[in-house]
Amino acid sequence: MTDATPQPVSSAARTLFTELTGAEPVGLWSAPGRVNLIGEHTDYNDGFVLPFAIEQRTHVALGTRPDGRIRVISTVDPVPVEIPLADLDLLFPDDRTDVPEWATYPLGVAWALLRTTGARAASVTGVDLAIASSVPIGAGLSSSAAIEGAVAMALNETWNLGLDRVALARVGRTAENEAVGAPTGIMDQMASMLGRADAAIFLDCRSLDTDIVDLGFAAAGLELVVIDSGVAHSHATGGYAERRAACERGAVIMAVTALRDLSVADLPRAAELMDDVTFRRVRHVVTENQRVLDTVQTLRERGPHAIGDLLLASHASMRDDFEISVPELDTAVEAAMAAGAVGARMTGGGFGGAAIALVAHDKVKTVKDAAATAFAASGFAPPTVFTVVPSSGARNDP
Ligand code: GLA
Repeated sequence: MTDATPQPVSSAARTLFTELTGAEPVGLWSAPGRVNLIGEHTDYNDGFVLPFAIEQRTHVALGTRPDGRIRVISTVDPVPVEIPLADLDLLFPDDRTDVPEWATYPLGVAWALLRTTGARAASVTGVDLAIASSVPIGAGLSSSAAIEGAVAMALNETWNLGLDRVALARVGRTAENEAVGAPTGIMDQMASMLGRADAAIFLDCRSLDTDIVDLGFAAAGLELVVIDSGVAHSHATGGYAERRAACERGAVIMAVTALRDLSVADLPRAAELMDDVTFRRVRHVVTENQRVLDTVQTLRERGPHAIGDLLLASHASMRDDFEISVPELDTAVEAAMAAGAVGARMTGGGFGGAAIALVAHDKVKTVKDAAATAFAASGFAPPTVFTVVPSSGARNDP
């Protein structure tokens, strides 16, 4: 087991920029990853989610250039990628494989910003962007939304586009859906844009209305432990899109716009109308929406110690009905609970990534050790276990 603590990476972005260009950046921006407390696979069903931004962030150092080109470099790849802004239209959405996958995020955001605002490539300045991140990749903590958020905010300000945070979240989702090619919802981008210290974002994914929900973990003597299974996942392929298609099928059968329009009382009728697999996908989404509403109410009325059962019910629903958990994540949840966690569940899109556990401060070490022991006993590679703190959203850094 290893502990991953947030590294100060803004200086890494600045250094990388200077190495690339020989100059100082004109500005630095950053955006956080997120943990979803509850509300999984509900966002693209127009439903409810309750994520929070974390301290781990992606940093972007930006400089301008006079030749209308965009050049991006990242600490994950020593080779920069450069293209005229006017040629982004040739890459996206169809020819994205012409650039390495990591570069589709920043270039995709530039493309989506121009498309969304109708700004012509010739009317904005060329840019160099250097990117460094402390958000673990593939852990289900949305390193993708962090890079999208940081780049979107940097370019929005540099190009004077005047988009607000919600519009920038939409731009991030457009980049993710159409440039990267992952058919995700908008939860991660909204969490990264709107995060607040010590609070979660209660988001209605239909209206995009948000409400801040105080978490009060520290005051309640609790910590949020992330158990990264190390099982890599990708939402651009396979299971995620399949689950989304099943949800859309369910909505058509029930003659509603989205599964958000169903309530738990509609489930017996759904069971009669659809095959077992589709029904179980629908049941997950419908009950998960209700669990988000219940979690918000419980947090407000009784505090975080009282949400454990909701987290566990969410995990069971993802494991049994939505079938997006993996043995490592089930093991993480079971080990955390056996070691005295208040509640635990896998978080994010599934098929790998991380589980979260809400744990009393004095039991954190026990939970960490229990996860490591349980993984070893099952023959899994050691998990990476660390705590996260609800933190603020995207920003221009000094
Ligand atoms: C990924 C997607 C989100 C959301 C979650 C599942 O993180 O990016 O939009 O669908 O999976 O809740």
